[in-house]
Amino acid sequence: MKKQFVSQLKKDEPVNDFFVISNVSQRPYKNTSKGNYLQLAVQDKTGTISAKLWSEGEETSRLSQHLSNAQVVKLSGKAEEYQGRLSIVLTEAPEKIENYESPEDFIPKTDKDIPKMLQNLKDEISKISDPHIKQLLELFSNDDEFMKKYSTAPAAKVMHHNFIGGLLEHVLNLISASKTIHSSHPELNLDLLIAASILHDIGKIDEYDVGLKIDISDEGRFYGHISIGYRLVASKIEEISEFPKELERKILHIILSHHGEKQYGSPVEPIFPEAVAFHNIDKTDASIQNAKQSIQNDNQERDWTYDSIQKRFYYKK
Ligand SMILES: [Fe+2]
Ligand SMILES: [Fe+2]
Repeated sequence: MKKQFVSQLKKDEPVNDFFVISNVSQRPYKNTSKGNYLQLAVQDKTGTISAKLWSEGEETSRLSQHLSNAQVVKLSGKAEEYQGRLSIVLTEAPEKIENYESPEDFIPKTDKDIPKMLQNLKDEISKISDPHIKQLLELFSNDDEFMKKYSTAPAAKVMHHNFIGGLLEHVLNLISASKTIHSSHPELNLDLLIAASILHDIGKIDEYDVGLKIDISDEGRFYGHISIGYRLVASKIEEISEFPKELERKILHIILSHHGEKQYGSPVEPIFPEAVAFHNIDKTDASIQNAKQSIQNDNQERDWTYDSIQKRFYYKK
């Protein structure tokens, strides 16, 4: 059982515990005649940290072939700070561990109650007044097998809500933000915004493989969640007789356009008010969550944290 978690590691303290590998690489020494040393990115449910072993060139290449992603290793070394960043400097080669018994040590999970969130979602669906939207959403929500996947799916690998139950948490935030936007723009179709909240990222249930860490699945690499979601929803709509064409177009358009711009993966850009509103609601929730997580995951005592994905500093105080 694991005792030392990434977020609690402190400078100059010994490290002796289990981590899962998320990247293995060989890096050149400053003095290039010494060859390469071993660099790992390792993680647990509280965060990611790099670990290096000042190994000889030959040992480095042997170890980097022997170790692979998503593998549990026991690390021994010390937490050291370099240029404001904490990393683990290893004193021994990582030890591979087969059949680690507590995968929950590695995969982060929402701190909210999943069955309660699921019930909230079902309550929201029951309040929808458009009969076709309601029927479509119920085709998903009455499918227990499907909802099991939906309610445990992460909403991302890195950016935001990248934990078990993250998708559901994100969706409930979007429903409540949709209601807020609707209160100042009552001419918008709230049922459509709620359907968009529930369906826009539905492809994420197949975009990720969740084992000891969250990874992109084969399906995710081939198609991405926008295409997977488009297909899932389009085929459910086909099961409903006389689903209005105009509504079908609008729902599918929001799935395709929710990333806002072609350069961010949307094949079409928002073309009606609900689509514009929804893109912004989605982006707002994702960016707020990204800022909160970047700050939470930084265990250094300092005022600023750098988010390498957003390429910006966040103020922690
Ligand atoms: Fe998305
Ligand atoms: Fe989203």
